[in-house]
Amino acid sequence: MKKKIFSGVQPTGNLHLGNYLGAIKNFVALQNEKDNDCVYCVVDLHAITVKQDPKILKDNIRETTAAFLASGLDYKKSIIFNQSLVPAHSEGSWILGCIARMGWLNRMTQFKEKAGKDKEKASVGLYIYPILMAADILLYDSTHVPVGEDQKQHLELSRDIAQKFNLDFKTPDFLKAPEPLIQKNFARIMSLKDGTKKMSKSDPSDLSRINLTDKKDEIINKIKKAKTDNAALPFDDIELNKRPEVANLLGIYSSLNNQTLSKSINEFSGKNFSEFKHKLSDLVVQKISPISDEINRLKKDNDFIDKILKDGAEKADKITSKKVSEMKKIIGF
Ligand code: AMP
Ligand code: TRP
Repeated sequence: MKKKIFSGVQPTGNLHLGNYLGAIKNFVALQNEKDNDCVYCVVDLHAITVKQDPKILKDNIRETTAAFLASGLDYKKSIIFNQSLVPAHSEGSWILGCIARMGWLNRMTQFKEKAGKDKEKASVGLYIYPILMAADILLYDSTHVPVGEDQKQHLELSRDIAQKFNLDFKTPDFLKAPEPLIQKNFARIMSLKDGTKKMSKSDPSDLSRINLTDKKDEIINKIKKAKTDNAALPFDDIELNKRPEVANLLGIYSSLNNQTLSKSINEFSGKNFSEFKHKLSDLVVQKISPISDEINRLKKDNDFIDKILKDGAEKADKITSKKVSEMKKIIGF
């Protein structure tokens, strides 16, 4: 069966190793599998659910696109565009917002985390964010959605919305319930400063993450300063599980090297951190520096990036304007 893949990344700056290993690397692999139709979206409408500086937002839309291309996404094979250029995403989101129930949204843990203590002050957009995400996915009849583990609940909501729409209007199969594609191994890359916290764009400490735009010396420095403990590297995963920072670094090493965690444990068991960190630095530099160089090169060519986004948006518009028209007809407009 032909897979229809959709995924999105917010243009909120500081794309990092977690985004790459948890999402973008997988986007590239799916694009390169035979028979897949892939759509990869820079979700700028999602980004404005929190306050953005207009000039920085524009730069970040281009930088995220550059990161897609530098990581191996190919605009000739995949549709690459930014969400705000395609009106059906907003229109579909309104319609689906009338299908989704308040109770469903109230369960979303990401909203609770992002809104923090003062929920009253969060934007309404942040609250209905998962509905826009459902529109993104459902408008393309997507069958598979590669995301990090943190997005699983939003995917389930998309499935619920699709099912309720189909039931309410007696149009079985009109909206397709998508499957999440979540990496089994290394699905969550953690902060370099705290192995219990996710590596995140918004962590105030830049030392907590490896940005995809970091230069070689920055990468080396961050790995040198990454938190560890005093013992030698562990002999098995039982011991490793008690040491989250070490588990994270070995996970990063394994994922970048496309090898199992147990192979990495065997490679370094009993060794000291200076030797491991040295190898890890070399590997991260080898894999990430070419991406970083290419992002910095592409960032100088706004016209090229803008043309890719515009061409991608035209293709996306063809697919989604048709789906939204069908939706409107079903509803009775
Ligand atoms: P975001 O940065 O929230 O726009 O996320 C873009 C994609 O990267 C989503 O699929 C996330 O699940 C994934 N992602 C973000 N942070 C991490 C992380 N620390 N580890 C693994 N995947 C991540
Ligand atoms: N909410 C996702 C995130 O923060 C981004 C996103 C928006 C997305 N629309 C999507 C992911 C559709 C997959 C499919 O990471």
